[in-house]
Amino acid sequence: MSGKSAKDFFRPLAVGAPEPLREIPARPSRAIHFFDPSNEKMAAKVPDMVGTVDVLLGNLEDAVKADNKVAARQGLVQIAKGTSFGPTQLWTRINALDSPWVLDDLTTLVPEIGDRLDVIMVPKVQGAEDIHYVDRILAQLEAKAGLERPILVHAILETARGVANVEAICGASPRMQGISLGPADLAADRRMKTTRVGGGHPGYLVRDDPPRTDGVANLEATRATYLQDLWHYTIARMVDACAMHGIYPYYGPFGDITDVVACEDQFRNAFLLGCVGAWSLHPKQIAIANKVFSPSVEDVRHARRVVAAMAALGGGGTGAVMLDGKMEDDASLKQCLVMVELAEQLAKIDPVLEQQYAAIEVDA
Ligand code: GLV
Ligand code: MG
Repeated sequence: MSGKSAKDFFRPLAVGAPEPLREIPARPSRAIHFFDPSNEKMAAKVPDMVGTVDVLLGNLEDAVKADNKVAARQGLVQIAKGTSFGPTQLWTRINALDSPWVLDDLTTLVPEIGDRLDVIMVPKVQGAEDIHYVDRILAQLEAKAGLERPILVHAILETARGVANVEAICGASPRMQGISLGPADLAADRRMKTTRVGGGHPGYLVRDDPPRTDGVANLEATRATYLQDLWHYTIARMVDACAMHGIYPYYGPFGDITDVVACEDQFRNAFLLGCVGAWSLHPKQIAIANKVFSPSVEDVRHARRVVAAMAALGGGGTGAVMLDGKMEDDASLKQCLVMVELAEQLAKIDPVLEQQYAAIEVDA
């Protein structure tokens, strides 16, 4: 933690920079769709994607060739200036802080399109000091550009040191909007032995005990195995750190574009653990993320029933009721409110969900 007085935490870091936000708005961001602004074919599709995805992200870092770094940056400026984004957010992923490109990324993007950029994603964050560095530069550039609202910062959790420091990273600045898991870089940095970009691994499993006859184990018998989630520890830790600081956790990339089933499973695990969204590396993955990170009609129906039953109890949200043989109380009401509030936010931007949720009939 910084040695700053708590009173100074929400003061702008440069004279004339916009006031930091006290709360990070809960804007739906189920899919963060990555595009390479130096790829003309991909860039040309961006305007048509507005309204079909919660976040469009112009990627300047990994997956963009070194020779194309300047073209990507300029491409993003052009796209941002020439596109009306409506309810869709515009994010970018800048180059890493130890790269020769990042300073030009920031000093170009903030004056040119700072008024259109909602969030800047910072890769390979190691600790709070990385966020402090970006925080101050952004404040200086915002002041110079006369911006009226602060650009938010999103860190990728993809180094071992970053994971060890995740709580400090989340709390390093009022700009912190959220964190994404970066399973590829993280696996490499930790020297994990998976070469996949996210997802499970057939070797990471537990196995049933051998069957026994008269107490003797039959080690030749076939035994069921169960895959374990390689990312469970990191995602769970990230979710706690984000929740503690009022910011949002995201599962990151799922590299096997063809395996839509396993992608959905990985996204759903993250949703159940508390994440609000995931990256999309191909338009196919947008639909998966939109489905998984929106509460199902059944979940919303159940949650509304609990809310209605607890309201009917007249205890101002206290007490206990039985519904379908299950106990519901103050705590399960809070769980249900998470679902109901998320459904309300999504209904505001997604007309299909709005209709589905509106059609739900609740009989308490
Ligand atoms: C994402 O950037 C990753 O490294 O997985
Ligand atoms: Mg990475």
